[in-house]
Amino acid sequence: MNNRKTEEAWNYHNKTKHPGMPTHYLDWANQPIPFKIYTTLDPIEIPTDLPPSNVPALTAISNNVPITSDECIPDLRTLGRLLYLSAGITKKVNYPGGEIHFRAAACTGALYHIDLYIVTRDIEGLEAGVYHFGPHDFSLRTLRKGNFLGVIMSATGEESAITKAPITIITTSTFWRNSWKYQSRAFRHTFWDSGTILANLLAAASAYKIPAKIITGFVDSTINNLLGLDTNREVAVSLVPLGDTEKSIQAKSEEIETISYETMPLSKKEIDYPLIRSIHQASSLTSEEEVKEWRTGTPESTLPEISGRLFPLDYNQDKEIGQISKTLEETILKRGSTRQFAQTSITFKQLSNILYHSTSGIHADFLIPFGSTLNYMYLIVNDVEGIPKGAYFYHHNENALELLKEGDFRGDAGYLGLGQDIPGDASVDVFFLNDLNQVLEKFGNRGYRVAELEAGIIGGKLYLGAYGQGLGASGLTFFDDDVVRFFSPHAEGKSVMFLVALGKSVKSKSSR
Ligand SMILES: Cc1cc2nc3c(=O)[nH]c(=O)nc-3n(C[C@H](O)[C@H](O)[C@H](O)COP(=O)(O)O)c2cc1C
Repeated sequence: MNNRKTEEAWNYHNKTKHPGMPTHYLDWANQPIPFKIYTTLDPIEIPTDLPPSNVPALTAISNNVPITSDECIPDLRTLGRLLYLSAGITKKVNYPGGEIHFRAAACTGALYHIDLYIVTRDIEGLEAGVYHFGPHDFSLRTLRKGNFLGVIMSATGEESAITKAPITIITTSTFWRNSWKYQSRAFRHTFWDSGTILANLLAAASAYKIPAKIITGFVDSTINNLLGLDTNREVAVSLVPLGDTEKSIQAKSEEIETISYETMPLSKKEIDYPLIRSIHQASSLTSEEEVKEWRTGTPESTLPEISGRLFPLDYNQDKEIGQISKTLEETILKRGSTRQFAQTSITFKQLSNILYHSTSGIHADFLIPFGSTLNYMYLIVNDVEGIPKGAYFYHHNENALELLKEGDFRGDAGYLGLGQDIPGDASVDVFFLNDLNQVLEKFGNRGYRVAELEAGIIGGKLYLGAYGQGLGASGLTFFDDDVVRFFSPHAEGKSVMFLVALGKSVKSKSSR
């Protein structure tokens, strides 16, 4: 039961803080390719003729389709649309050094180390099996034929959504594709970059009225074996059961054959980062019983009393959203990380819409009851019409911002975001902090995974909420301990998980 030795998560977290990471020079000649390409498996084309949902992005990010809705079995066209909107290639940009294929969701360094796999029973257009999704040619490749949903049911200790879902999407991370640039921090990025994809996937599922839930409690080795992963290099991160039916699972299957297919080498050589493998191992669950025991609710938050001025959010009501929000499809196709913010204001209504609709709850096995959260949002407001400049705490339950300290903190924001211009120029910076001790006490080392993942999912929703209103956003990295100091005493003892900058973009000529 390594998962309970939580000094492992602390060790990883402390060793991968900024500043403190060793200096690292990029070996461009050894840059890994951003795709997993099976060299011997035939592609199965995914149809692309599904009409757009035309649901406003703000509605899509905030609505959650209950798992108990009527029978819902997505067909291959719908599945294809969900894959495209979460991990598809949405833009190709030429550079002197080549072409970058940008994707639907933001990813650290545009390195795209997250892959999607599908485990399905027979659905319209696709036979039961285990498939890999290849964004490079928008195709599936068959890894196993037959209904393997029972394997997932066992691995998750019969999690309720899994037992009813006709399809489960699995996200994985291939560490080297990210650690090439970010070294051991790639384990943090595994969850951030899965999170942004999952934000898109949840929004797309909601737009097409498909029940979806994030499952993070599973026997790691069972899911990794099901996908035939070389676990020193690639591991499963999350499962997303989609749809709802009584008749999906045939039987609990105990034994599965080993599979291994040839894939294209990622680069000339790969460098191993043992810290990543050790935290992954230490946060793994090893039996169905351990999974069931693990999945028992979210710790309750303990927050300092409200003592600052409160600014209730001023967001648009449901019936007005169609007028102020682009559709989800338009938003995802337009989305990109803002490379330069205009040092100008956004309105409090725009900020309220982003915050309110991004935090309406996530169906997840680590957020029980629905609406619970592991992360708190601290803001630096550089320029928002209607509220003073300053540092704020977002009271999610009160739908209000509490002013912690008033002042112009653009300089601090720029510094805290690793000395980059982006957070200093943005209108608002949203920092995700949590009580990591409390999270680890409850969930063991795996709490580290889910806390980073939740921040990544909400961060991904912030992107969609911003672009849905014609604004810009960018994920950012940060100086861990200085962020906590900046927001203290309120943030005393907390740990930083993620940072997103919001504002209006300058259409810059600079490359991304
Ligand atoms: C978690 C996360 C952290 C990021 N950190 C930075 C950062 O520190 N600086 C930066 O310029 N861009 C950052 N980005 C933006 C990525 O570089 C960008 O997502 C990637 O190049 C893909 O481009 P796109 O988002 O425009 O599609 C971050 C993105 C994410 C998702």
